[in-house]
This record gives sequence, structure tokens and C-alpha cells, in this order.
Amino acid sequence: YCYFFCFISLQLYSVVSSTPHLCRHDQRDALLKFKDEFPNLQYSPRASNTSLSSWNKSMDCCSWEGVTCDGKSGEVNSLYFYSIFLNNSLKEDSGLFRLAHLQNLTLSNCYLHGNIPSSIGNLSQLITLELSSNKLVGQLPPSMGNLTQLRFLVLSQNNLSGNIPFGNISSSSRLEYLFLANNQFKGTIPTSISNLGNLLHLDLSNNNLEGQVPGWLSQRQQVMLSQNSFNSFEKSWEVFEETNMEALDLRSNSFQGTFPYWICKLRSLRFLDVSDNRFTGSIPQCLKNATVSLTYLVLRNNSFSGILPNIFFNATQLISLDVSHNQLEGKVPKSLINCKAMQLLNMESNRFEDEFPSWLGSLPSLKIFILRSNQFYGPLYHNNRLSIGFQALKVIDLSNNHFSGSLPSFYFSNWHEMTTLTGNYDDSYMEYYVYYAAVYYNSMEMVNRGLHLLNVSGNTFTSNIPQSLKNLTKLETLDLSWNQLSGQIPGGLASLSFLSTMDFSHNNLQGPIPRSTQFQSQNCSSFMDNHKLYGLEEICRETDHAPNPTPQAYEDLFEREERVINWIAAAIAYGPGVFCGLVIGHIFLSEKHKWLTERHLL
Ligand SMILES: *[C@@H]1O[C@H](CO)[C@@H](O)[C@H](O)[C@H]1NC(C)=O
Ligand SMILES: *[C@@H]1O[C@H](CO)[C@@H](O)[C@H](O)[C@H]1NC(C)=O
Ligand SMILES: *[C@@H]1O[C@H](CO)[C@@H](O)[C@H](O)[C@H]1NC(C)=O
Ligand SMILES: *[C@@H]1O[C@H](CO)[C@@H](O)[C@H](O)[C@H]1NC(C)=O
Ligand SMILES: *[C@@H]1O[C@H](CO)[C@@H](O)[C@H](O)[C@H]1NC(C)=O
Ligand SMILES: *[C@@H]1O[C@H](CO)[C@@H](O)[C@H](O)[C@H]1NC(C)=O
Ligand SMILES: *[C@@H]1O[C@H](CO)[C@@H](O)[C@H](O)[C@H]1NC(C)=O
Ligand SMILES: *[C@@H]1O[C@H](CO)[C@@H](O)[C@H](O)[C@H]1NC(C)=O
Ligand SMILES: *[C@@H]1O[C@H](CO)[C@@H](O)[C@H](O)[C@H]1NC(C)=O
Ligand SMILES: *[C@@H]1O[C@H](CO)[C@@H](O)[C@H](O)[C@H]1NC(C)=O
Ligand SMILES: *[C@@H]1O[C@H](CO)[C@@H](O)[C@H](O)[C@H]1NC(C)=O
Ligand SMILES: *[C@@H]1O[C@H](CO)[C@@H](O)[C@H](O)[C@H]1NC(C)=O
Repeated sequence: YCYFFCFISLQLYSVVSSTPHLCRHDQRDALLKFKDEFPNLQYSPRASNTSLSSWNKSMDCCSWEGVTCDGKSGEVNSLYFYSIFLNNSLKEDSGLFRLAHLQNLTLSNCYLHGNIPSSIGNLSQLITLELSSNKLVGQLPPSMGNLTQLRFLVLSQNNLSGNIPFGNISSSSRLEYLFLANNQFKGTIPTSISNLGNLLHLDLSNNNLEGQVPGWLSQRQQVMLSQNSFNSFEKSWEVFEETNMEALDLRSNSFQGTFPYWICKLRSLRFLDVSDNRFTGSIPQCLKNATVSLTYLVLRNNSFSGILPNIFFNATQLISLDVSHNQLEGKVPKSLINCKAMQLLNMESNRFEDEFPSWLGSLPSLKIFILRSNQFYGPLYHNNRLSIGFQALKVIDLSNNHFSGSLPSFYFSNWHEMTTLTGNYDDSYMEYYVYYAAVYYNSMEMVNRGLHLLNVSGNTFTSNIPQSLKNLTKLETLDLSWNQLSGQIPGGLASLSFLSTMDFSHNNLQGPIPRSTQFQSQNCSSFMDNHKLYGLEEICRETDHAPNPTPQAYEDLFEREERVINWIAAAIAYGPGVFCGLVIGHIFLSEKHKWLTERHLL
């Protein structure tokens, strides 16, 4: 993910390093001492241009890289380092703590280890303290209570532990952003944090916190609690009146019982994720009120049952709806037709029983559409419907249902997003995609692989594979396995140069296997159980080891695909949690914050 961050940090650099020429010698000496504390600096594998070569006495210290001074007094008031390889701990007597006028201190992703020294309390003018993405350990020193001017405290992505210690920060605290995600903090959320009257954004994701979620949090804008062990909510959550809460992330905790009805009252809520908990019962009708503002609604992997209520009449801002891995039944609610902004709809692994909701084809932005593993039935089209839509589709997974009939050839020529070969990966969606993929999987490859996927396996489709599939020029994954398809594999598929994974197994296909690099490089098992197919010898010989393909091979493909889908869902659904933890910390100082937040998160 360095590409992204470095880009941002470079941008910041250019803003930060303006050049007054007023360096005070005591400040300069403190900075030089600080530099000397990091003898490994010059071996930096990362720092291309941030190697502190500009930190030398022949230059005014106020123009050193990362340093900003007060224009009048010449005191250093800001130090900004992102992604520079310091590889050492901060000492109690570090030169840093002589810079008593520091307002903003950022040392992020700098390979700092050890504890946060208690002399941090010397920097009593700090407004921003950002030490995220290092290897800091231990407890926060009580002297941090001295930092009464703090508005932004960002310590995400370290290995800090102990309780969350804010006993010493007074109720007049100015703290607005508190980001402690991805550490080892334990215990409950202390009541003392409730004294932080100005706190708006709290991110405690991925720690070892537990117990009840305190009711005073209902008055915050952003409450990110994912990946902890919280199990219940204080009673007072049920009685709040006014709230401006915009984001609530409860993912992957130990919540159980019915859907928390007070969520319906959050009229400004834009992001809600309750996935990976043990909620039961039905999804309440009252959620209708909250859908007016929601952009992300993620109910994935609980035990919700009953129907998915028809509550989406005003959900015009909804971008992502994920109800997968529950026990929902009945039909696809017709009000979804109003979700004109929808990009992802995932209903995987429920008990939905309906005809193919071809009417969703009119959603102009639907990119990822997953009905996998339900009880959908019937043909994919009805004769009276000519205009099919699904103009923006990139991924469609209809596998493991009871769909039947033929695969209608005109469908495939309509899916423009799959057929228009532009090679242009810089639309906003891709940025978003690439970014999350990078964060989660540290791999650009994944992005390019899973994107264009058509999976109809495990149904009872009959008749031929339509020739028009060859028009899906961007197709990368095609799974037609476990159907009753007959006829030949269209030779035109050999021309799909991006098609890297395909599966035709367990059908009644016959005739020759088309010849192309793509086809020849498939696993033998992708064609198994089609008794009249020929031309297999070469493919099965080339992959040498598997002349008699095993069910294992199919499992592998299945799993790989599952991963892709999960990843896509995760990327979209869970993005914001990570977003808050990692990114807001870096960019709240810049204009980009607003831009990114509006564009991608809320
Ligand atoms: C280093 O920064 C200077 C100016 O600040 C720039 O001209 C140069 O291209 C940069 N070098 C690298 C390797 O980024
Ligand atoms: C000090 O830094 C400046 C800017 O990087 C550089 O041009 C100059 O050569 C350096 N001087 C010494 C003595 O290293
Ligand atoms: C420190 O950060 C605050 C908040 O972003 C900003 O208003 C202030 O100008 C910054 N001060 C310096 C010296 O960079
Ligand atoms: C980082 O510091 C450790 C000692 O703390 C040292 O063993 C290691 O070699 C250093 N790494 C580099 C790349 O300098
Ligand atoms: C704390 O600040 C004071 C005054 O600025 C300074 O004398 C003292 O050395 C600092 N303490 C540390 C540990 O740097
Ligand atoms: C707290 O800050 C004051 C200056 O405002 C300083 O004199 C004192 O030493 C600091 N205390 C700690 C524990 O750092
Ligand atoms: C974090 O600290 C725990 C002990 O508190 C240790 O077991 C673990 O390996 C550490 N993790 C990292 C990434 O340093
Ligand atoms: C505040 O910190 C001091 C040590 O710095 C400690 O003795 C005291 O108990 C703390 N107060 C609270 C309310 O936690
Ligand atoms: C939903 O909104 C309607 C009017 O907009 C209001 O009358 C009703 O009380 C609200 N329901 C809940 C549960 O907030
Ligand atoms: C569902 O959540 C549980 C934890 O609550 C997790 O172990 C499991 O892997 C999740 N399943 C899916 C399909 O995401
Ligand atoms: C939905 O929108 C319509 C018209 O904009 C409005 O009259 C109605 O009250 C809204 N419903 C809810 C539940 O907000
Ligand atoms: C496939 O594309 C070709 C042009 O590339 C077009 O002539 C043909 O009609 C398309 N097939 C279908 C079924 O739309």
C-alpha cells in the first residue's frame, strides 16, 4: 500500500516544507541530536528522498526536510515524517523532547520500536500526535495527560497494550480524533473517555476490548469497534434522542440477540456494519428510516432470518448492500429498484427463493452482483423483456441455485462493462478497489484477476454455450461447471485473451476443445466429466500430474473463487474500517481527507 501512502505523503511534503529562515540554535541542536539517535537512518531501504541529507549545519534548520518553524520566533512547531526508516526506539532524553513548541508531530511508518517515553509529556503544545504504523509496545505513559491541547491522537497499527488510559485527561480535553486501531489494548472502554467532550471520531478496531459498549458513544460521529469482543450495549443506547452518528462499525464482535432497534433512529447514519456477529431474528422494518442516509449496509454472516423487508424505497444513496451468509428467505425486495447508486449487492448463502431479478438490470451502477448459493429458480430471462441492462456489471455469480433454461445469448452482448475493452483502470472505482486490495492482500495481481467474473455453475442450465460469450472481452474467470450444457465449446472463446480461469466440467459438452494459450494452460479438471469432449490429451499431459482429475481440483477452483468473492466483498464492505484506522490518520491534515471521505467512505 506504499504507493498510495507515499503519494499522499509526498503531496504533504510539498505543502509542509515552506521555508522561513529563522532557525534557533537550540532547536537546531535538538534536531541534530534527534537525527543522531537514529544511526541506521542512512541504510534506509525505503527512504528515497527522505534520508535527512538536508539536515546539515550549512542550511537553515527551518528549511530542513520535514521541519516547519514558527515564522516569528523560529521555534520548530511541526515535524513530519512518513515512511522513513528510523529503526530505533525513542529515548527518554531524545532531542525531540526539547522541541517544546511542537504543535504537530508525525512519525508514521518509521519503524520506531520500544515504548513511548514519558517525556512525551514535555511536548505540552501538541495538537497532533501521530505515531501510527510503527512497532511501538507497552502502555501509554500517564504523562500523556499533560497534552491538553491535543486534538488528533493517532496511534493505530502498533503493538501497544494495557488498558486505554485516559484517566488523566481532563474533561476540558480538546481531543476530537482518537485512533487506536490495530493494537493490543484490552479491558473495557473506560468511562473516563466519556469526559472527552469534543471527541467525534473514535477508532478502537482490532484490539482485545470487551464488555458493554457505553451509551455515551451514541453522541459521536464515527464509532469503529470492529474486531474486538464486545458483547452488548448499555441500556442508555435505547433512549438517546438526537444524534449525528455517521458511521458505526460493529463487525466481528460477540454481539447476539435481535437487531439493535435503536439503530433505526440514527438518521444521519451513512455506514453500518454489523457483520460477523451472532445476531438473530428478523431484519426490522424500522430500518427503513435509516436507509435514507445509508451508503453501506453490511449485515453479512449473522443468523438473521425471515424475509429481507421491502425497505429500500428511499435508499437512493446505498452503494453496497451485503446480507450474505444469513438465513434470509423469500423474494428479492422490489424496492431495491430505487437504489440507483448501488454498486454491490451480495445475497450469497441464504435461502432466497425467487425468479432471477432481471429488473435489477436497470440499476445503472451495479458492478458486483452475487446470488450464489440460494434457491433461485427458472430461466434468466423472460420473453417479454428485451432490454436487459446490467450495463456496469463486472462480477456476476449465480452459482449453486436452481436456474434453468438456456444461457441467453443476448445477455452477454449487453454487458458493456465486460465487453468494452479500454484498459483504463483509473476510474474512481478502480482506485478504491486497488487501494483496498493492496491493503488487504498486498497484491495488485488479485485486483486484475478477480474483476471480471461470470459464474453460473451448479445450476441446471441446458442447451448450448452462447457464441456471444466471446464478446465479453474483459472476462477473466468463467465457470459453467455442474450444469447440463451441451454442444461444443465455442471456438470464439479462444480469442478472450484475459480469460485465465475457466471451468466447463460436469456438463454434456462435446467436440474439440478450442486451441489457445488460455485453454492449453487450464487444469485438466476444468473439462472433466464431459464424455464427448476431445483434445484433452495435450492439456492433461501438459499439467502432467493430473491425468485423472480429482474432486480436489474442483475444490481448489471453488476455493480460489470463493476467496476472490470474499475479497471483493471485504474490500467494499470492510474498507472503511481500515480506512479509518490507516488512512484518516495520515490525511486529516490535508484537503484530501474530505475528498477521500466523501468519495469513498461516507
Ligand atoms: C528528490 O527531491 C528533489 C527535490 O526535492 C527532486 O528534484 C528529486 O527528483 C527527488 N529525487 C527522488 C529520487 O525522488
Ligand atoms: C547540506 O544539504 C544540502 C541540501 O541537501 C546539500 O546541498 C549540501 O551539500 C549539504 N551540505 C553538506 C555539508 O552535507
Ligand atoms: C498543526 O495542525 C493543526 C490541525 O491540523 C493546524 O491547524 C495547524 O496549523 C498545524 N500547525 C503547524 C505548525 O503545522
Ligand atoms: C535495525 O535495528 C536492529 C537493532 O535494533 C538491527 O539489528 C538491524 O540490523 C537494523 N536494520 C537495518 C536494516 O539497519
Ligand atoms: C523538557 O523541556 C524542558 C524545557 O523545554 C527542557 O529543559 C527539558 O530538557 C525537557 N525534557 C526532556 C526530557 O527533554
Ligand atoms: C507537563 O508540561 C509542563 C509544561 O507545560 C512541563 O513543565 C512538565 O514537566 C510536563 N510534565 C510532564 C510529566 O511531562
Ligand atoms: C505484540 O506483542 C505481543 C505481546 O504483547 C507479542 O506476542 C506479539 O508477537 C507482538 N506482535 C508484533 C507484531 O510485534
Ligand atoms: C494521573 O497520573 C498520575 C501519575 O502521573 C497518577 O498518580 C494518578 O493516579 C493519575 N490520575 C488518575 C485519575 O488516573
Ligand atoms: C420513521 O420515520 C417516520 C417519519 O419519517 C416516523 O414517524 C417514525 O417514528 C420513524 N420510525 C422510527 C423507528 O424512528
Ligand atoms: C462468520 O463469522 C465467524 C466469526 O463470527 C467467522 O469465524 C466465520 O469465518 C465467518 N464466516 C464467513 C463466511 O465469513
Ligand atoms: C421517502 O421519501 C419520500 C419522498 O421523498 C417521503 O415523503 C417519505 O417520507 C420518505 N420516507 C421515509 C421513510 O423517510
Ligand atoms: C459480438 O460483437 C461483434 C462485433 O465485435 C458483433 O458484430 C456481434 O453482433 C456481437 N454479438 C452479439 C451476439 O452481440
